[in-house]
Amino acid sequence: MNFQDRLEALTDLLRPWSELWSSSILQNWPQSGAAYPESWRSYAESLDEAGERRLDHGELLGAPPPALHSLLLALHGLTELPWHEGVHGLTTADGQGLSIKKAHEVERVLALLGPRTRTIRQAADIGGGMGHLARLCVKTFDWTFHSIDRDAALQEKGRDWLRRARTLPQEKLSFLHASVEDGPQLEIDPLFSGHDRASIGLHTCGPLALTQIRKSQEAGFLLNFGCCYDKLDAARDYPVSRFGEAHRLPFTRYALSLATRGRHHKTGTEFALMKRVYAQRFALDLLLRRQCPELGFVPAGDAPKALYAGSFAVYARDRLERLRLDPGMAEAELDSFEVSVRPETRRLFLCHLLRDRFARALEIVLLLDRALLLEEMGFQVELLQVFDPRLSPRNVALIASRVEEPVGHTRGS
Ligand SMILES: C[S@@+](CC[C@H](N)C(=O)[O-])C[C@H]1O[C@@H](n2cnc3c(N)ncnc32)[C@H](O)[C@@H]1O
Repeated sequence: MNFQDRLEALTDLLRPWSELWSSSILQNWPQSGAAYPESWRSYAESLDEAGERRLDHGELLGAPPPALHSLLLALHGLTELPWHEGVHGLTTADGQGLSIKKAHEVERVLALLGPRTRTIRQAADIGGGMGHLARLCVKTFDWTFHSIDRDAALQEKGRDWLRRARTLPQEKLSFLHASVEDGPQLEIDPLFSGHDRASIGLHTCGPLALTQIRKSQEAGFLLNFGCCYDKLDAARDYPVSRFGEAHRLPFTRYALSLATRGRHHKTGTEFALMKRVYAQRFALDLLLRRQCPELGFVPAGDAPKALYAGSFAVYARDRLERLRLDPGMAEAELDSFEVSVRPETRRLFLCHLLRDRFARALEIVLLLDRALLLEEMGFQVELLQVFDPRLSPRNVALIASRVEEPVGHTRGS
C-alpha cells in the first residue's frame, strides 16, 4: 500500500469535517449539534432502533442524504486495510492461563512473526505484562527474549507461568522490571538495537508506541499494536512523520478519545448499554446546566456499570453526591426531569452516532503517520488487520522489516 497516497486522501476527506470530530458534542451543546448538517440530523431522527444500530455499523437504511452516504462510502474505502490470515494454533498446555482474547491475539501474532523474522535471534517486548507472548515466542522460535514491564506484580505471575513450562529453556526468557521512557536508558536501549533483534509492543498505551519506534531505529524488525490514543498529547505526539506534518489534521484531545473508541459491530447488548449510558449522562448534564448554570460544564466521571441500568434518579444521586452538589430534587422529580428531556438526549445521542463514523478513520490517520515515520527511518512497512475486532478492537499491526540490501551494497553508497 502507498501510505502517502492513503494518508493524503484520508486527511483531505476528514479536514472539511474537523469541526465535528475535533470537538466535544456534550461540552459545546447545543452549538455542537448545529454543526451537523440539518439533513443528517433529520435523517438520523427518522431512524428506529434497528436503523440506529445500522448507523452505528456505518450502514444507512432508507433514503439517507447523498452527502452523508458518499462520505461514509469514502471513509469505509479509505479505512480498509489488508488482513493477515494465518493462525499458529496453540496446544491446550500453551493456552493455559490465556484469556480467549489473549489466545486469539497470540495465535495470530505468532503466525505473523514466523515468515518475517527468519534472521531474528533475540526479541524484547515493551509492556510485555505476564510475558505470555514472550514465553510462546521462545517456545516457537527459540529466541532469547526480554519481557519489559513496569508492573512487577504482573511479571511475578509471568515467572510462575514460565516455571510451569518445564520443557522450556528457562534462561532464554528474562523479565526486566523497568519503565521504558524516551531518552537514553543504558540497560534497555541495547535490547532494541541489532539486525538480529526484534522489537515488539502488543498494545502499547498512548505514546509508548512512539517510544518503542524511536528506540528501535537499529532493530532488525518491529511489531507494534497501538492503543489508548487518548493518552497521546495532540501537540507533541502527532504528527510524527515528515509527510504527516505536511498533511496535518487539527487533532484535539477529543479527537484522540474518538480514535480510541472506534468499535465495529457492537452486539445488541453492547449497543443497548452504550445508549443507556449516554441517556443517563446527557440527562445529568442537562440537569446541571439548568440547576447550576454557574458551574459551566461539569465532568461527571464514569459510574459503576450497574448504575446506568437503573433509574435516572439513582444514577444522578450517586453522581451528585460525588460532585457534592444538591439540586434539591426528590427522586420522582429527578425521574420526571429525565423523561422531559428525552427528545433532547436523543438528539445528543444521534449526533454521537454520526460523529462516531469518524473514529476508525482518525485511528488510521495516526497509524499511517507512524507507518510513514518508520518508512522515513528506512524500514519496509506493512499495516495489517490481524485480530477480530469483536475480540480485540485495536487490531491493526504496524510491521517494520529491514530492507534487504543487495550484496556488495554498503549504507550510503
Ligand atoms: C495494555 S497492557 C498490554 C500488556 C501485554 N502486552 C498484553 O498484550 O497483554 C500495557 C502494559 O504496558 C505496561 N506499561 C505501560 N507503560 C509502560 C512503560 N512506560 N514502561 C514499561 N511498561 C509499561 C503496563 O504495565 C501494561 O502491562
